[in-house]
Amino acid sequence: MNITTVGIIGAGTMGNGIAQACAVSGINVVMVDISEAAVAKGIATVSGSLDRLLKKEKITSDAKAAAMARIKGSSSYDDLKGAQLVIEAATESYDLKVKILKQLDGLLAPEVIIASNTSSISITKLAAVTTRADKFIGMHFFNPVPMMALVEIIRGLQTSDATHAAVHAMATALGKTPITVKNAPGFVVNRILVPMINEAFFVLAEGLATPEDIDAGMKLGCNQPIGPLALADMVGLDVCLAVMEVYLSEFGDSKYRACPLLKEMVAAGRLGRKTGQGVYKY
Ligand SMILES: NC(=O)c1ccc[n+]([C@@H]2O[C@H](COP(=O)([O-])OP(=O)(O)OC[C@H]3O[C@@H](n4cnc5c(N)ncnc54)[C@H](O)[C@@H]3O)[C@@H](O)[C@H]2O)c1
Repeated sequence: MNITTVGIIGAGTMGNGIAQACAVSGINVVMVDISEAAVAKGIATVSGSLDRLLKKEKITSDAKAAAMARIKGSSSYDDLKGAQLVIEAATESYDLKVKILKQLDGLLAPEVIIASNTSSISITKLAAVTTRADKFIGMHFFNPVPMMALVEIIRGLQTSDATHAAVHAMATALGKTPITVKNAPGFVVNRILVPMINEAFFVLAEGLATPEDIDAGMKLGCNQPIGPLALADMVGLDVCLAVMEVYLSEFGDSKYRACPLLKEMVAAGRLGRKTGQGVYKY
């Protein structure tokens, strides 16, 4: 399947990042959000991001103009009709995604592939609410999308080989490196990353080392660009805790129990950079 036009649901952080990555790679984009204001904000974010690349001489002004011309913003789902692939990147809520997917399923031609960028919802479960479960797949991009090379491609139990092949080829055409993952909570990257962050809180709680030394250890000893505690502050301690709680309930395995110190800090409102204090003060 030749994908020349991609529809994107949601013009937020991930939606506009995916739109930029597609447009820069020569793919036409229709980006839909609930209001004209949200769409305009998403398009302005892409423009600002391309301006920064222009300043650094990573793209030319012609390339920027060509990319911007490929992005059509809309608040109407009807404008998605010419797309061969629609990527859902709306707010992370199961009920909202079900509503959106049912709407898309009724509107799009039967051969159109639908992908979700969800971080935590089962692809198999979302596929099952459509009448095209074989043409449903997860495309998990990383933030910020234009900078991050990885896309996790998540196969639901029902995803066909043809759907997987088309989406894999499309992610490669975006200049990304796709990895293929079977559907399971946290997929691959967050399944490994979040328990590692949780373990860093256990190490901190046991008083084995200072936060600075724990982060320095993981940076210098494991070549990680940022230490796990500083990363927790960036992601949000509440998000880390919520993810651990999902793993604990979904897998029923006590190895996923959240560190009591992490719970305590969330209860105190020390959520990280967004509240001015987490493990570190900002
Ligand atoms: N932010 C991240 O680091 C990150 C990373 C990977 C995956 N994700 C996933 O990507 C998805 C989007 O996250 P985000 O961070 O971009 O959120 P966001 O809040 O920045 O953007 C979500 C957008 O969806 C729009 N929206 C809500 N309902 C809609 C509807 N019915 N139709 C069209 N648009 C609608 C909102 O108006 C908003 O603009 C979520 O599923 C999230 O789990 C996020």
